[in-house]
Amino acid sequence: MSHITAQDVLKQLQLFRRSLPPPTEGDFDMREELLAESRRFLLSLERDHNVVHRVCYQVMETVAISAAMRMGLFAAFKDGPTSIDDIALGCNADPVLVGRLLRCLTAFGAVEETGTSCYDHSTVSRAFTKKDNEAAMIFCLEFLTPSWLCLPSYLEENGWRNPESATITALSKAHVRDGSPKSLFQIMKAAPSRVLEAFNVYMTNFNDGHKSWTEFYPVMERLGREAKQDASAVMMVDVGGGYGHQAAELKHKFQQLPGRFVVQDLVQGLPASPKDGIEYMEHDFFAEQPIKGARCYYLRYIAHDWSQEKNVQICTQICKAMEPGYSRLIINEWIVPESAPSKFMTVQDLNLMSVQGGMERTLLLHREYLEKAGLKITNIFWPGDTISEAVIEAGVA
Ligand SMILES: C[S@@+](CC[C@H](N)C(=O)[O-])C[C@H]1O[C@@H](n2cnc3c(N)ncnc32)[C@H](O)[C@@H]1O
Repeated sequence: MSHITAQDVLKQLQLFRRSLPPPTEGDFDMREELLAESRRFLLSLERDHNVVHRVCYQVMETVAISAAMRMGLFAAFKDGPTSIDDIALGCNADPVLVGRLLRCLTAFGAVEETGTSCYDHSTVSRAFTKKDNEAAMIFCLEFLTPSWLCLPSYLEENGWRNPESATITALSKAHVRDGSPKSLFQIMKAAPSRVLEAFNVYMTNFNDGHKSWTEFYPVMERLGREAKQDASAVMMVDVGGGYGHQAAELKHKFQQLPGRFVVQDLVQGLPASPKDGIEYMEHDFFAEQPIKGARCYYLRYIAHDWSQEKNVQICTQICKAMEPGYSRLIINEWIVPESAPSKFMTVQDLNLMSVQGGMERTLLLHREYLEKAGLKITNIFWPGDTISEAVIEAGVA
């Protein structure tokens, strides 16, 4: 085999970059794999000083982008290359400051330098001109990041135990001045309106690109077949279901499903205007489940908010209301692979650890709280990609 030099690799990389086709609907996983491989390649190139500069200063990329966004710098780009002076004029800022920010942004690839003192958009700056991405930046940087920065000292003070408290958290350490225990919900209530507005926009788009559970869970076979037909029978209880998006989707997509669809949440979680055909009910999921013998009890994004112990309590209440052999409990969450999970899954795990002692779970950990609650996993349905949430189906053991 002929000897390949670093220069050959460089040429090949430039060729690859220019020949990369635009993304398509179906190539999400392939592109994620390409990203992961490229990251491995970058890591293999790094020497100590590269590692230290990257790790210790990587937050500066977020800081520079956030400052540019807040200043209106990206919005000040004309169509095509724009001079520093024109950009500064467009966002009413000091050209010296704009020039300094642009140089840093260029170094991170967040904008492109097209000539002397002239810049244009890159994929990064373009992304942050969109409202939903802007909202993600505001919420993550101004609300979540302070808690992430507190996590190492919080963990040390917590004796390096796995965090389980939902009120004594890195988030409360970061945001609560008097140090009193506070839940995520209580801390959010006191956040500036700019952060709350950003959160609402961010959450609306958080699942874009994820497969709905109804696309790969055989709904008619597992829930429709042998379902009770009488008028009082309940098809679905969406526990902690918020506005009831999932109950409404199931009802409208599968109109042959008989029975009632009920959404339960704390009073502050329920919507002001109910969705057609859905019943809403105030209910605390740590208390006795009032609806007995429903065909399915559905939990989406609930388990990951809480510790193992709290999940045992939530699922025990549901288990006691389930009809053995008939009722199914559906957990619609990520199942984190034991080996090589995606970066996004692992950062979300640490995020949940920081904000409310929650976690993203492996199958082993899902199984553990279910079994302690008196349940048994009967089926697992996988979405067939690396980003969507799976379906764990359980029955009374
Ligand atoms: C992450 S959201 C998930 C909402 C919904 N399941 C979904 O997938 O969009 C968590 C939900 O749990 C609700 N919640 C929190 N504590 C609760 C409790 N003790 N009883 C009932 N609902 C609760 C919140 O109000 C919120 O709607």
